[in-house]
Amino acid sequence: MEPQAPAVAVRGLEGVIAAETRIGYVDGANGKLYYAGYDINDLAKNASYEECVFLLWNDRLPTKRELDEFRAELIPEMSLPRPLVQWFKRVPRGVHPMVMLRSAVSDLALYDKETEDNSVEANRRKAARLVAKVPSIIAGFYRIYNGQELVPPDPKKSIAVNFLRMFTGEEPDKKSREAIELMFVLHADHGFNASTFAARVTASTLADIYAAITAAIGALKGPLHGGANQRVMEMLEGIGTPDDVEDYINGLLVRRERIMGFGHRVYKTEDPRARHLRKYSEDVCGGDVACSRYYAISRQIEKQVKKTKGIYPNVDFYSATVQHALGIPVDYYTTVFAASRTAGWTAHVMEQHADNRLMRPRSQFIGKIPRRYVPMEKRKK
Ligand code: SDX
Repeated sequence: MEPQAPAVAVRGLEGVIAAETRIGYVDGANGKLYYAGYDINDLAKNASYEECVFLLWNDRLPTKRELDEFRAELIPEMSLPRPLVQWFKRVPRGVHPMVMLRSAVSDLALYDKETEDNSVEANRRKAARLVAKVPSIIAGFYRIYNGQELVPPDPKKSIAVNFLRMFTGEEPDKKSREAIELMFVLHADHGFNASTFAARVTASTLADIYAAITAAIGALKGPLHGGANQRVMEMLEGIGTPDDVEDYINGLLVRRERIMGFGHRVYKTEDPRARHLRKYSEDVCGGDVACSRYYAISRQIEKQVKKTKGIYPNVDFYSATVQHALGIPVDYYTTVFAASRTAGWTAHVMEQHADNRLMRPRSQFIGKIPRRYVPMEKRKK
């Protein structure tokens, strides 16, 4: 007997528990985030991105030896199939990097002999290929799109640092290395957010992991989700100076527009990730006039929105200033989010495949039923 559906639809599935998971937990009331039970504040201060990937996949932290072996597995996988690199040259000018990314990740399935194998072992190998190749696709496309040579990965460096050096073509300084590592750690997983849920729904049909990650990238692009970080920077550029913040924000609120980088479906207090990114954006912006201005404007916006709307910045708000400081162009901001979140998405796909039930909610039909068929000649406008 199918359980009775709720009398009315739950808009946006707010508060609905769709499945059990051991991967991540968002305590929205208390503003806390855990990866497999470990507090994000401890991980942000101490862990590398690879440690977090290992943790999300294995439900435990790696030993030194395991971490070295894991890195030795991942870094060579940053290499890309030759036809995909050739394809980069044919992407039309002006295509959004997230549109490129979802096509490129979908293309990876063409060159992986294990695409159709959903076994635990094959999924784990494909997950490693994805975690390594997604950042490499972003950096490689950017280089080729700008007529530059590809930069090979350095086996002695992490995924996150390799991403930045492969993207900019320069060896990042200490502060930039720390900032990009932090960005990857903080964006790795976040419960059943829309893109992770898209991945799980896709995996629940027993579609392959490439299909699921492509679906996730599609979902992340939206400005209500991962696409917000790009719009935050566009807002900062549009405001100009800290003195213009009050009028700008009040204008948005009067027009009942959303302030990008603020609010959250689950957090009802500060997003713990925003705290770390705020601090880093102050650190990495120091000395750069434009960046310091963006930081000052951000702080002013935060004060104004708290006062007028009582809502807090989320992960996307200060991510914009940090990425600006790292030399990432605005239209690539969401791809950096996707590069890191591939860790959580792959973890969720593996968890779904390991103990699956098709995800198939119901809907509340609000149309007329039944309606009598009318032959064409009898139809009136
Ligand atoms: C991410 O889910 C995740 O975990 C996502 C994420 C992850 O790591 O995967 O954390 C990453 O996507 C962060 C969110 C990025 N998106 C944005 O920054 C876009 C701006 N934010 C909003 O659109 C909004 O806050 C959402 C979409 C994030 C959440 O929206 P909800 O839960 O549907 O809330 P709502 O739109 O129904 O708003 C509730 C109230 C409203 O007040 P009233 O009109 O009823 O008086 O809060 C207000 C809203 O007006 N509100 C905002 C606001 N967010 C909520 N008002 C102005 N600006 C905002 N940003």
